[in-house]
Amino acid sequence: MKIAVGCDHGGIVLKPVVEEVLKKNNIEIVDFGCYDENSVDYPDYALKVAEAVSQGEADKGIILCGTGIGISIAANKVKGIRAAVCHDLFTAQMCAQHNNANILSMGGRVVSKELAAQMVQIWLDTPFEGGRHCKRVDKITAIENKYFK
Ligand code: RB5
Repeated sequence: MKIAVGCDHGGIVLKPVVEEVLKKNNIEIVDFGCYDENSVDYPDYALKVAEAVSQGEADKGIILCGTGIGISIAANKVKGIRAAVCHDLFTAQMCAQHNNANILSMGGRVVSKELAAQMVQIWLDTPFEGGRHCKRVDKITAIENKYFK
């Protein structure tokens, strides 16, 4: 498994713990930056990760900004991306189980390093349940197909 990681200056505080969890799970990491706390624009990093996932260069992605909101909004503009901003273990689990989220988004100014590490682990460990949720995820794809040219 290969996971693309991207962040802005507001999310970089979580990147080392996220990457530590991925390494412990023997997951290959593609780190798209940023690499320091200088101010950058989160859509640039959302696009790198979302394109890698959308084009199949990475299996999944993890994105980080101050709140997890801006970077997830940007990532969700890329076809095939289901980026979920999560703040706790329940939402991190559910976005995998019910929404088949292929990108996990978290806020460096919202969640602690410890919680972020646990959220990554539960997101990795939780399979998509399928069943009735397939129809709903397919309806998301149908919306994309209607509006993405
Ligand atoms: C950057 O200051 C901040 O706006 C960004 O990290 C993020 O929180 C946006 O949603």
